[in-house]
Amino acid sequence: MGRAVFDPEAEMPRYKVKDPSLAGLGRDSIGWAEGLMPVLSRIKERFLASKPLRGIRVGACLHVTKETAVLVRALMAGGAEVSLCASNPLSTQDEVAAALAEEGVNVYAWRGESEDEYYGCIRDVLGDGPRITMDDGGDLTVLAHKEPGHPAEGIMGGTEETTSGVHRIRALEADGALRYPVIAVNDALTKYLFDNRYGTGQSAIDGIIRATGILLAGKRFVVCGYGWCGRGIANRARGMGAHVIVTEISPLRALEATMDGFQVMPMGEAAKVGDVFVTATGNINVIRTEHMALMKSGAMMANAGHFDVEVDVEGLASISTSKRRVRPQVDEYILPGGKRLYLLAEGRLVNLAAAEGHPGEVMMMSFSNQALSVEYLVERGGTLEPKVHRVPRELDEEVARLSIECMGVGIDEPTDEQRSYLKRWDLA
Ligand code: NAI
Repeated sequence: MGRAVFDPEAEMPRYKVKDPSLAGLGRDSIGWAEGLMPVLSRIKERFLASKPLRGIRVGACLHVTKETAVLVRALMAGGAEVSLCASNPLSTQDEVAAALAEEGVNVYAWRGESEDEYYGCIRDVLGDGPRITMDDGGDLTVLAHKEPGHPAEGIMGGTEETTSGVHRIRALEADGALRYPVIAVNDALTKYLFDNRYGTGQSAIDGIIRATGILLAGKRFVVCGYGWCGRGIANRARGMGAHVIVTEISPLRALEATMDGFQVMPMGEAAKVGDVFVTATGNINVIRTEHMALMKSGAMMANAGHFDVEVDVEGLASISTSKRRVRPQVDEYILPGGKRLYLLAEGRLVNLAAAEGHPGEVMMMSFSNQALSVEYLVERGGTLEPKVHRVPRELDEEVARLSIECMGVGIDEPTDEQRSYLKRWDLA
């Protein structure tokens, strides 16, 4: 349970964190991430000078990690007040939560929240009366539309970080129920091409290795879903010597995986041969009991998709005779006949629960889009239509430009002749 500190009379920040005394460790950790995120630091400097978010309360439901803390600091430099809860009960870095609480953020997050506590923390954020929501998975946005008192009415706009969240908010829009504009940060090119692919690719493998300590070389490694996350994971696993198998439901994505050199097969076949299984689909019950029944003893399952619904965890428990935790992020399930199956991180995001989430270098790009999108929403002052919007192209390009500049990568300028050639239709 998190420690609650409330002192509204003294106008003290409100927070619920695991242990406020971890703040020093958290500051060091945030400082490390800041060093890897120079574009966000530049945005922070600009925000500090012009205060574009002055007096705006941002309610954020994001993984409470050191990289998120760098974003929160940039928003505060811009004059925003921030209320923050976790977008996953297992992803909070408690030292980071403590440091942010000390810096005046209303943090309601600790690692290992129960389901009730998780939603309670989201309600705490809504209770602070945010004008902007910043979401990762859609839980905050959806609750803002469902809670009594209609918090959505007071919100001028929001952003959404991930594929699954964008799907949910588009569904809210399709039902005619979306009450404020939401910018789909996930759909920026400088987000999904890098964060989903390289970020998840590296950090999911990192989580699996930290949890299990296994050698990937020579393993049959099954990746379910060949979207942006899945292709990142598949390529990194191949790079470490695994024999990678892909499962898909989309003929196009299956074709891409095949031509990228991966073996593609239905889950019913992959289940029989896989040593390690990772889901990254955004879909439900991708690995079911019928697949578990076919798996070899010792097979390991992990999930890198946003919600813990991709592996049928309840089904696994129902076909098992016993379950025990054998390592901090590994549960062993024994099936009748003695077969052992392993589930990593309780079927939740393995890269955040068993490792530290994405590295700062890619979160810099995602969170620069977040910061610029919040500025854009505030500039528009609630005049945008209540629908799902794209990150404006010029912001996306600005993030790309600043990122390569900070990486020290030079590119060419087109010549005048080239510029005019590219505009002509009458020349070959
Ligand atoms: P995407 O839409 O690009 O790819 C998903 C792929 O899964 C599609 O190709 C789809 O055809 C396939 N798929 C759907 N159902 C399937 C099934 N039953 N079997 C096999 N394949 C199936 O989505 P993206 O961007 O790759 O995101 C995937 C999930 O990962 C989402 O839940 C997203 O929110 C989450 N995500 C997680 C991150 C992390 O830190 N672990 C980072 C970014 C996204």
